[in-house]
Amino acid sequence: MTATLQTRIDTAFAQHFGHAPTLHVRAPGRVNLIGEHTDYNDGFVLPCAIDFETRIAVGPRSDRQVRICACDYGDAIDQFDLDAPIAPRPDAQWANYVRGVVQVLLAKGLALGGMDMAIAGNVPQGAGLSSSASLEVAVGQAFNALHNSELLTPTDIALAAQKAENSFVGVNCGIMDQLISACGQADHALLIDCRSLTTQAVPVPAGLAVMIVHSHVQRGLVGSEYNTRRQQCEAAAAHYGVKALRDIDVARLERDAAGLDAVVLRRARHIVTENQRTLDAAQALATGDLQRLGQLMAASHDSMRDDFAITVPPIDHLVAILQAAIGPQGGARMTGGGFGGCVVALLPEALVPTARAAVAAQYRAPNGDAATVYVCHASAGVGVV
Ligand code: GLA
Repeated sequence: MTATLQTRIDTAFAQHFGHAPTLHVRAPGRVNLIGEHTDYNDGFVLPCAIDFETRIAVGPRSDRQVRICACDYGDAIDQFDLDAPIAPRPDAQWANYVRGVVQVLLAKGLALGGMDMAIAGNVPQGAGLSSSASLEVAVGQAFNALHNSELLTPTDIALAAQKAENSFVGVNCGIMDQLISACGQADHALLIDCRSLTTQAVPVPAGLAVMIVHSHVQRGLVGSEYNTRRQQCEAAAAHYGVKALRDIDVARLERDAAGLDAVVLRRARHIVTENQRTLDAAQALATGDLQRLGQLMAASHDSMRDDFAITVPPIDHLVAILQAAIGPQGGARMTGGGFGGCVVALLPEALVPTARAAVAAQYRAPNGDAATVYVCHASAGVGVV
């Protein structure tokens, strides 16, 4: 897969720019094991980077132009001037991830020079595996490595990428996707404190498979519903007089709930309980307690379904199929923003064929499609290849 990406970007680069690239960078997609919608509440998340990535072939230019070839969009070309105002392109969303990161890096005062880039990726798009974050982070690293002798830390790159997504692309996401794409570690999940941005690497036990099952349910409502959830969480934090829901525990949540809208209270309960589950799950993963991990993943899914209301019936069904196949030897839950996308399962490698067979026999998306299964390995974050 990786060899193919490399060949594709090198071929496109030579063909469109007439010279050879001087550098290659890569940044991975991610899967979140637990800790959903907690990132923008200053809380905890436990994602790992996956072995699907965006790769860019890069070469310097002597002028101030940035030229980009998007191999996954029929070799579409974008070009812009570093010294002119950078505007979003309504006709080419992919280009906005590049333009947005460049604009943020320029605003940060980074010395950028002209660059040719050919980009290709194998992170499934529209699946909730952060293909866009991997593109943003890879672009940040391209400029960081080519012109700035790696002046920026991976966390700086993640923050710039998130800012691009918030202010240029217009998606009000938290920091999780960009931070894990930048800071991921091979064979580890990262427990991220989304307030301090400190990370703690938690080894994924040998023999434990990270299985991602794409439901093929379209993530239609994700944008508007995501923003509604954010507003509800902010309203709840204001009710409790705290900066973010990170700052209250379950006892406080229930004790001072009087006067809070019932729906907002349920949304807040998901966040508060999910933060604790995420800390507990990091512990369970570290000690290889798969039964406990499975219980926490099940409770997380139930909370996303009942309190946060971001699952859909086909996803609930898919999770139930996996939970039945895995039993007490691991767990499964919906992963990502919600309303479709993927389910993540943690299970012994030996059980993967059983879980696959159960999904193949018992699940169909509303449009009749079977699910797609990816068995992933926790991978390293952004880097020069
Ligand atoms: C999306 C956002 C993340 C995070 C998740 C939910 O992936 O980009 O910042 O909020 O949803 O956990």
